[in-house]
Amino acid sequence: MMEKIDHIGIAVKDLEAQVAIYRDQLGMELEGIEEVPSQMAKVAFLRVGDSRVELVQPTSPDSPVAKSIEKRGEGMHHIAYMVPDIRAAMALARSRGLQTLTEEPKPGAHHSLVCFLHPKTTGGVLTELVQPGGHQE
Ligand code: CO
Repeated sequence: MMEKIDHIGIAVKDLEAQVAIYRDQLGMELEGIEEVPSQMAKVAFLRVGDSRVELVQPTSPDSPVAKSIEKRGEGMHHIAYMVPDIRAAMALARSRGLQTLTEEPKPGAHHSLVCFLHPKTTGGVLTELVQPGGHQE
């Protein structure tokens, strides 16, 4: 079902300040910053070897990330796995008793399609499935 870890998501209040830490102090390459309206968030991707770190800043108090920061504070938010076919991966996940947060995949960053699995069915870890390039706009 999964090909590799695509990225690790970190919830932040101040994207610019955290980008400075990851880029200038930890020395990671900034790939880009973009708005992800479906998540009500602004995200920055930083490359580390073959994988990436995604810094996620909510753009609305209604954003799921804003609620997460309210409850648990800033920090580790989710782990994202690359899948070749998100609809197939979602169907397989459901058939194995995992709960998807949405019925359909949503547009993510970089024209990807994404879907989250409920942390109560994945050992307390919010888990994202990502199909790169699955969404064209
Ligand atoms: Co993510």
